Amino acid sequence: MLESTADDEARMDEALALAARGRGATSPNPMVGAVITNGGVTQGRGYHARAGAPHAEVVALEEAGESARGGRLYCTLEPCCHTGRTGPCATRVVEAGLREVFVAVEDPNPRVNGAGLAYLRDHGVTVSVGLRRAAASRLNEGFFTVQRRGRPFVTMKAAISRDGCIAAAPGQRTALTGPASATHAHGVRATVDAIAVGSETVRVDDPLLTARGVARVRPLVRVLFDTRMRTSPTARIFGTLDEGPVIVMTTEASVRAWPRRAAALEASGARLEVLPARDPALALSRLVAHEVCDLLVEGGAVLQRAMWDAGVVDRVRLYIAPMTLGAGAVPWMTAGGFSMADHGGESRKLGDDVLWEADVQRVD
Ligand SMILES: NC(=O)c1ccc[n+]([C@@H]2O[C@H](COP(=O)([O-])OP(=O)(O)OC[C@H]3O[C@@H](n4cnc5c(N)ncnc54)[C@H](OP(=O)(O)O)[C@@H]3O)[C@@H](O)[C@H]2O)c1
Repeated sequence: MLESTADDEARMDEALALAARGRGATSPNPMVGAVITNGGVTQGRGYHARAGAPHAEVVALEEAGESARGGRLYCTLEPCCHTGRTGPCATRVVEAGLREVFVAVEDPNPRVNGAGLAYLRDHGVTVSVGLRRAAASRLNEGFFTVQRRGRPFVTMKAAISRDGCIAAAPGQRTALTGPASATHAHGVRATVDAIAVGSETVRVDDPLLTARGVARVRPLVRVLFDTRMRTSPTARIFGTLDEGPVIVMTTEASVRAWPRRAAALEASGARLEVLPARDPALALSRLVAHEVCDLLVEGGAVLQRAMWDAGVVDRVRLYIAPMTLGAGAVPWMTAGGFSMADHGGESRKLGDDVLWEADVQRVD
């Protein structure tokens, strides 16, 4: 066991910062960062830039070259020991002659899951696990949730009035929040793998569900929860297929009942995900095959309530506007479903709005 010092913590923090450069680009892979030192001097740095690109350890090893021999590796995730799109990193670490390895957290992928650590130890490398474990787990909450729960990490997002409503009246599109919230929300859209909404939101708002004003490197998957397939084949979202696929969650019974609706949506470019039952947890598990690790559920209240009741919400993010909508407005999940007071959370000002965020289920 290696004792860690303040210098080791600083090196692992640097590796975490490197890993975060891959945000929004690595799914279905995790973000990983690596730093190599020898004699206390940094010899190599690396991060996993996108799925299919070299792993962080390999990038750092290539930069370090011969100066890695006898040195130390700081890695935010257990080095892999299997051959995926790239070769096994644990082998490369041993071949490069590194003597000591700090790993922040074990890789829960069943193909690794301690085998990378065992390989290193079996080949005489001294390994220490757990330095900055919590930060490393949170960095990859999407990847960890897929590996452990078989579904993406789910953030439920809503813009609400001070009296907890999402629209002024049923069927009415209502602008609530200001430009600072919009900028923030599009920044989040730039990094998640997918956005989901309920069919009523599609019918009322006819949203594009794209990330605007920000750079995005991967396709953005849009998921419409629309069992009865009431989405119009001419909905605006079908004009944005070059941004990423549009998946419609429906059921076998609905496709049997409304075959023409199913055919029309497919003709518009939708991909139907046909479930045996209208079950949010089952729908989420289907998204793993679409390489979705981080999902943002943007509304409306009916879909979010179903997700909440199914116990599949990991984080709640609210943009709270400084207005009241009063009687007749559409309440968010506050009526008997969700209480901000039960969840602590953190808030900060965003222009005239307040951003409030709380973890419901944590990965660390
Ligand atoms: N302020 C905000 O942040 C915000 C965000 C979004 C929307 N909105 C507003 O919210 C309103 C629409 O929201 P809404 O709550 O009425 O409807 P919604 O949640 O958008 O959609 C509800 C529909 O989703 C479908 N659905 C599919 N799978 C489901 C499941 N497992 N559980 C439950 N529903 C499922 C159902 O239709 P099927 O039976 O056909 O499946 C259901 O009728 C609009 O006024 C919109 O402008 C506000």
